[in-house]
Amino acid sequence: MLKVNKLYVEYDGVPALRDISLIVNEKEIVSVVGANGGGKTTLLRTISGLIKPTSGTIEFMGEEIHTLSPHEICMRRLIQVPEGRQLFPKMKVIDNLKMGAYLPEARKNLPQSLERVYKLFPIFKERTKQKAALLSGGEQQMLAISRALMSMPKLLMLDEPSEGLSPLFTDNVFETLKILKEQGMTILLVSQEVERSLELSDRAYVLENGQIIMEGKGGELLCNDKVREAYLGM
Ligand SMILES: Nc1ncnc2c1ncn2[C@@H]1O[C@H](COP(=O)(O)OP(=O)(O)OP(=O)(O)O)[C@@H](O)[C@H]1O
Ligand SMILES: [Mg+2]
Repeated sequence: MLKVNKLYVEYDGVPALRDISLIVNEKEIVSVVGANGGGKTTLLRTISGLIKPTSGTIEFMGEEIHTLSPHEICMRRLIQVPEGRQLFPKMKVIDNLKMGAYLPEARKNLPQSLERVYKLFPIFKERTKQKAALLSGGEQQMLAISRALMSMPKLLMLDEPSEGLSPLFTDNVFETLKILKEQGMTILLVSQEVERSLELSDRAYVLENGQIIMEGKGGELLCNDKVREAYLGM
């Protein structure tokens, strides 16, 4: 579904991503894990079209997308939940959700999409009129995921969805991703929660200093000595 090939990205001439190749197959959860500053956010923002690569290609559903604008990429229903959520804090829950369904195809499906979100997170059905800013951090993350679901993503990308959340909400986030996978969603997840991400993922890539240093099945990487030592403190 997604094929990133020999991707290079620079910020003002300073390399941030070097020779990144990765694929995401339909209905897989693939995670990209690694320490701070490794380039995870840069990678997702490049796939979303917010950053233009210096070289390399990105294909989505068989079409090259690295020359397209972020809007054109959204229209192909490749949807990112950004780092830090970026909700509309002064707007009500319901209006944040509707913002996710602004593309014509998604708008047609608005009632069904709302039902899907309310089933996942019943709290939003009760709080449609509450301002997003008044939700807890965990609830805001759920709202950011919900808004993305309203766009009917073919591929959902999430950047650190459990960052700054309590253990309970972290559990909720990973449980939600599991349910979405069971519903057939394809997911590219970026996270510093290495153990939980690897447990959840079909496959994973370890990104360090802008390069992929390891890749494999989630379970295999969990058992890998280097991963255990570097990321799991074992
Ligand atoms: N807008 C920018 N301008 C210049 N350099 C940047 C910019 N954004 C990121 N970088 C640099 O690119 C590198 C990768 O950053 P990035 O945010 O992609 O890493 P990350 O893996 O998402 O980190 P974290 O785990 O802290 O979120 C870092 O060295 C960072 O300082
Ligand atoms: Mg980041």
